Amino acid sequence: MAKTLQISALFFTIFSVFISQLLLIAIEGKEHKFGRNLSPTKLGLRKEKLTHFRLYWQDIVSGPKPTALVVVRPPHNKSSNGFGTVAMIDDALTIGPELNSKLVGRAQGLFALASQTEVGLLMAMNFAFIEGKYNGSTISILGRNKVFSQVREMPIIGGTGIFRFAKGYVLARTHAFDIKSGDATVEYNVYVIHY
Ligand SMILES: *[C@@H]1O[C@H](CO)[C@@H](O)[C@H](O)[C@H]1NC(C)=O
Ligand SMILES: *[C@@H]1O[C@H](CO)[C@@H](O)[C@H](O)[C@H]1NC(C)=O
Repeated sequence: MAKTLQISALFFTIFSVFISQLLLIAIEGKEHKFGRNLSPTKLGLRKEKLTHFRLYWQDIVSGPKPTALVVVRPPHNKSSNGFGTVAMIDDALTIGPELNSKLVGRAQGLFALASQTEVGLLMAMNFAFIEGKYNGSTISILGRNKVFSQVREMPIIGGTGIFRFAKGYVLARTHAFDIKSGDATVEYNVYVIHY
């Protein structure tokens, strides 16, 4: 009998400690609250828009002022198709396919040869716009680019400025590729949802 009482007392103590801990957590949770619900309109987020851009991505690897630089080369006897190569880019984005057509932004980031069996790039780049109402805003693109496919789709994973909360995709098509110099012009059709 005494033993049963003892065990009951023990359970009661454990239970009280548990309850007081719960209360403490609830109170502390209130005191340290750092997140709050916010109405989207308070941030000026009213209506989602879909914007389409057609841009030309100018990748210059030759000549004295390349806009794409290989920064990592794999050990020569470890890679048969360039797998592991990483290049940094600061490519012009123009409204026409000609190099001297109007510049509206730059594609800044990197690409890496990420496939051991084909030419499949990992692209990680920001389109940084410099024109009109888009000036100063960016779109971030992260995706797979199998460069010898006719159309390559890559996701837009976010943005800044006008493109805050951006989502969408791009379709890339090679417009011109100079096999001697390695220079390429790629048409990018950008479909972006933003506010
Ligand atoms: C690869 O090349 C490096 C140096 O060039 C050499 O030390 C190494 O043994 C080579 N490995 C193979 C598997 O041939
Ligand atoms: C874009 O913004 C920058 C910095 O605010 C400014 O210097 C530049 O003149 C703007 N360009 C255009 C085309 O509006």
